[in-house]
Amino acid sequence: MQEIIKQNALSIEKSRSGRRGVRFEKPQHTPDHYIPARYLRSHTPRLPQLSELDTVRHFTNLSRQNYCLDSHFYPLGSCTMKYNPKAYDVLSVLPALAQAHPFAPQEAVQGTLEILYNLQEMLKEITGLSAFTLQPAAGAQGELTGILTARAYFDAQKDKKRTEVIVPDTAHGTNPATSHMAGYSVINIKSGPDGCVDKEALKNALSDKTAVVMLTVPNTVGLFEKDICEIANMVHAAGALLYMDGANFNALIGVAKPASFGVDLMHLNLHKTFAAPHGGGGPGSGPVGASEKLAPYLPKPLVEKKDGKFFLNAKMPKSLGRMKAFYGNIAVCMRAYCFLRQYDAQTLKDIAENAVLNANYVRVLLKDAFPAFFDAPCMHECVLTLQKDKMNGVRTADIAKRLLDYGFYAPTIYFPLIVPEALMIEPTETESKEMLDLFVQAMKCIFEEAAREPQTVHEAPHAQPVGRIDEVSAAREPNLRW
Ligand SMILES: Cc1ncc(COP(=O)(O)O)c(C=O)c1O
Repeated sequence: MQEIIKQNALSIEKSRSGRRGVRFEKPQHTPDHYIPARYLRSHTPRLPQLSELDTVRHFTNLSRQNYCLDSHFYPLGSCTMKYNPKAYDVLSVLPALAQAHPFAPQEAVQGTLEILYNLQEMLKEITGLSAFTLQPAAGAQGELTGILTARAYFDAQKDKKRTEVIVPDTAHGTNPATSHMAGYSVINIKSGPDGCVDKEALKNALSDKTAVVMLTVPNTVGLFEKDICEIANMVHAAGALLYMDGANFNALIGVAKPASFGVDLMHLNLHKTFAAPHGGGGPGSGPVGASEKLAPYLPKPLVEKKDGKFFLNAKMPKSLGRMKAFYGNIAVCMRAYCFLRQYDAQTLKDIAENAVLNANYVRVLLKDAFPAFFDAPCMHECVLTLQKDKMNGVRTADIAKRLLDYGFYAPTIYFPLIVPEALMIEPTETESKEMLDLFVQAMKCIFEEAAREPQTVHEAPHAQPVGRIDEVSAAREPNLRW
C-alpha cells in the first residue's frame, strides 16, 4: 500500500541526491570559463534527481491518471472533444511546413501558401462567404476580428452613431466579452420560451445605434435559430450587420451555408469542427469569413493567387490591420486542410448529421431521468437538467464526479447559465452507438443511485487518485508551488 501511495508522490519527493538519468563527462573547465561569472547561479537549482527509469515511470503513471480522448469518452459540451486523426498530426509537423521561417521569401514557401490559399477557398465554399482570414488564433480572437471588421466598415461609411452590439442570453460568453472589448455597449436580450431569439425583444432592441447582432448558431442551448432568415432581415433593415459565432459548425457543415441565410461575418473554430484538438489550452484557430462588402476590411495580409503563384496581399487599403503576427497557427490550419481534403461534400454533410443524430440519441434515451431543458430536437449537443424532486439533494456537480467512477469524463456542467443544474452533453460524430449506450447506462445508474443511496453520489468520486477537492480554495488561493 505504501508503495502505491508513493506512486502519487511528486517527482521532487522521489528525488535521491546524486541519482541521474544521464551522466555527462566532467567539463574541462569550471562554468565561469564558459559564462561570465555575473550570469552564473549562486545556488544549485532544486531539481528532482532521478534515474531515467524513475522519470519515465513517474510521467507514464501520471499520464495514466488522466482522462483524455485516447482513453475515454469525453462528452464535454461546447468543446467538441472528437477524435482527431493522428495522420493529420504527422502531416502538420512536416519539416517543410513546421520549420519554415516566418520571414522566408514567398517564393520559398509556395507550398505552404498554396495550402493556406486552398483552405481559405474551401472555407468560402462551405460557408458561402466571400473571403476568409486565417489569422485569428482562437474562436474568441475570431470574434474580436469580426467585430473590429464591422467597426472598420462603419468607420469607412462615416457612421459613428452605431455604438451597440445586441447579444442574446443564449450566446457563448465570449460574445458579450468581445463586444465590450471592441468598445461597444452590450445590449442583452432574453430568449423566448423555445430557447431561440425572442423576435419582439430583438425588434425593441434594434435601432440606428445597433452596429452588430451577434448570434451563436447553434446557440448555447444546442438549438438552431429557426427564424434566422427573418432575424437577418430585421438586422439589415436596421442598417446593422449579422455576426454568426460558428464555433460549433460541426452541426451545420455541408448542410447549410450561413451566407444564404444572411450572415455578414462569422468565425469558425478549426480546433473544434475541423479536426484539431480542442481543450487543454492548446493552439487554436478562429478564421473569420466576410461577405463581399466587408471583405476589404478584414485583417491583412490575405493569401492570394496570381499567374499560378501564391502571395501575401498586404495591399488592402481598407483593412483593419493585423490581428496576429505572421499568418495564423499554421499547424492547426494544416489539420483543417487535411480534414477538408479527406472528405467530399456528402461526407461532410454526414459528419454534421451524425453529430446531430448522436446528441439527439442521448437526449431521447435520457429523457425520463434527465430531461432536456428545452424539449425540442437539438443540434450537436443537448442541454439536460435535473428533476429536483427525484434527486434527493444530488446536484449536477455530484453527477459529474460520479461519472468518473464509471469511466467517463464529465459533460460540461452549470453552462449555459440560463439552464438550472445544466448538463451539457456533446457526444460528437466520432463516437459509436455502443459507446453512447454505455454512457446512457452509466447516467441511468447514477439516477437510480440518487434515489437509493444518494450519499454514494454526493461523495463521489470513489475510484480516483484524488477525491473531492476544495474547488473554492483552489480557485481563490491557487498555490502551485512545492
Ligand atoms: C460557441 C463558441 N464560441 C466561441 C468559443 C471560443 O472559442 P476559443 O475557446 O477558441 O476562444 C467557443 C469555445 O468553445 C464556443 O463554443
